[in-house]
Amino acid sequence: MAPRTSIAEFRELVNSSDRIMALLGAGLSAASGLPTFRGAGGLWRNHESTSLATPEAFEADPALVSLFYAWRKHMALKAKPNAGHYALAELAKRKDNFLCLSQNVDGLSSQAGHPESKLRLLHGSILDVTCFNKCGYVEYNNLSDPPCPALAPASEDYPPDQTMPLLDPNMPAPKIELEDLLHCPNCKTGLLRPGVVWFGEALDETMLDDIDDWIMLGRIDLMLVVGTTAAIAPAASYIYDAQQQGAVVAVVNPDPDSADGLGSSDFFFQGSAAEILPQLFVGVIGVMDGDVCQILVSITKFTTPPNVFSLPI
Ligand code: OAD
Repeated sequence: MAPRTSIAEFRELVNSSDRIMALLGAGLSAASGLPTFRGAGGLWRNHESTSLATPEAFEADPALVSLFYAWRKHMALKAKPNAGHYALAELAKRKDNFLCLSQNVDGLSSQAGHPESKLRLLHGSILDVTCFNKCGYVEYNNLSDPPCPALAPASEDYPPDQTMPLLDPNMPAPKIELEDLLHCPNCKTGLLRPGVVWFGEALDETMLDDIDDWIMLGRIDLMLVVGTTAAIAPAASYIYDAQQQGAVVAVVNPDPDSADGLGSSDFFFQGSAAEILPQLFVGVIGVMDGDVCQILVSITKFTTPPNVFSLPI
């Protein structure tokens, strides 16, 4: 049986839900201009983005992986949160028991004002810096762009009609000597790397325990799955965990394949998170004015408020 697609029915559910969990992926930030990992935007030069997100790739070619992450950091620092980030942040402010698990490392949820106590960054932050040799050195919220002069080609801006040389696979990658990359100020030997979790690395254990404790507190009414292929463990397994706690699953994604596996009591909203999320939460957060989180009216008492957006109710 196909999942439900009625916005009105979903609004009723979200209004009446107490415990809500969300799993966020790269698609949430797509409308902010940030590339996803898979599908369109998943290639960087001639490399799959996912193949550069490993300690092995960093070990084999630290200059290339550092350029890739310096470019992602530059893009993240330039990007602004979109209406989807703001809608989730507003929902978090209004729902006491809303826990948001984000796979995104771009910092946009925090920038949108998402309360930190209701946000878990499963894969770390691109603004943090650690030592590749695991000496314990960590730097939080480092805004250097570029991170060092050798990585300057990753921070150049070009007009939209021109391809940035770094992104042109026909142009040779800039030649960077190892000694020109940033070295750890603590151990002096390791290279510095982004504070993100790479494939094959462990997620923060305390954070995982904390999430498990929250899940085990009781019934979960709603599990939102926004802009993710849900292809990576343990992130994707939280959908199953929420279902085990009774949750109705609601997927927001332009790709119809992302609805695979949903049941007839679940929801699927096909489209961009930036357009759909503000409409879905309108009964709790009020009506948002475009990308700016300006709550114009609070209409919590209505379950089917006037539709100010383009999707049919
Ligand atoms: P993916 O690149 O795998 O998936 C992005 C998803 O977003 C796809 O399902 C798209 O259809 C969807 N999408 C695209 N545009 C959208 C929009 N405007 N609104 C809503 N959805 C949209 O990214 P993730 O699932 O986040 O991990 O990837 C998970 C993890 O795999 C990442 O955190 C990263 C990656 O490799 C590591 O680097 C460890």
